[in-house]
Amino acid sequence: MAERTLTVRVARIARQTPEILSFELAHPAGRALPAYQAGAHIDVHMPGGFSRQYSLARAHGEAAPSAYLIGVKREAASRGGSASMHARVREGDLIAISAPRNTFPIRPEARRHLLLAGGIGMTPLLAMAEALAREGADFELCVFVRGEEHLAFAQTLRAPLLAPHVRLHFDIGETGRKIDLRRLLAERLPGTHVYVCGPGGFMAAVRKAAAHWPEEALHAEYFAAPAGAAVAGGRPFTLRLARRGIRVPVTADQTAVDALHAFGIDIPVSCEQGLCGTCVVDAEGAGAEHRDFCLSGSERAAKVALCCSRAKGEELVLDL
Ligand code: FES
Repeated sequence: MAERTLTVRVARIARQTPEILSFELAHPAGRALPAYQAGAHIDVHMPGGFSRQYSLARAHGEAAPSAYLIGVKREAASRGGSASMHARVREGDLIAISAPRNTFPIRPEARRHLLLAGGIGMTPLLAMAEALAREGADFELCVFVRGEEHLAFAQTLRAPLLAPHVRLHFDIGETGRKIDLRRLLAERLPGTHVYVCGPGGFMAAVRKAAAHWPEEALHAEYFAAPAGAAVAGGRPFTLRLARRGIRVPVTADQTAVDALHAFGIDIPVSCEQGLCGTCVVDAEGAGAEHRDFCLSGSERAAKVALCCSRAKGEELVLDL
């Protein structure tokens, strides 16, 4: 089951690096698209029946944008999604997308922002950096890539708006272009929040270097569930739907979403890995075994991602 979709036209495809293409997606009739806040992503429904989440790489503030910009890296181990975007999508094509959703927003309570991007994980952070630069906020965007030729959106990073805030790390090449994560995160200046997006190894390295930071100051956007993460299955339990006054049993091999769908209750889903936030509902979060990668510690007190999370005990109470 999916959310309502929008049809957009592929207005422009540009090669950013040997592995990364950017796609500009516009309304077919030239109308404005739904507004979003920096950090948001969309689902792209692509040829071959694949659906993937891509972050929006530009900031538009409150204004309704004329186009969305995404970056798609062709993954060597592509299960079809990125390969389909690279090989089969052409300028002028019509494709279906979801409206933007944001599970990775800029935190209003932060006084300083440290944005850490690994490769194509730069896209949501690029939008955040643009938004923060326009606000005059205190921030730094550190981009980690293998080398200059793998740097996507280089023009935007080097434009006057962002250049003073950007630090680049190249694994190969210029030896002076290295950022030591451990040193960078050794000390937390008061009010600093870290936002991280990138491949699994990069995310794990940041988490390790920031192990002494408070959980509430670390915000992560994952591409995929980390290796070894349990996202499905477990003990049976019951969902209590407080507003409807009914109970729905969930078997050991069902997800909460499966059980609700079997009961005729429509919960939209997309990634089914706890990443995108589509299936999140209000709940007594303290009663949940949270298995998602999209809710913050404080959000988990009152919300639950139903595609993966389960009850800690016998029952999970939902505001449905
Ligand atoms: S469907 Fe994506 S978090 Fe549940």
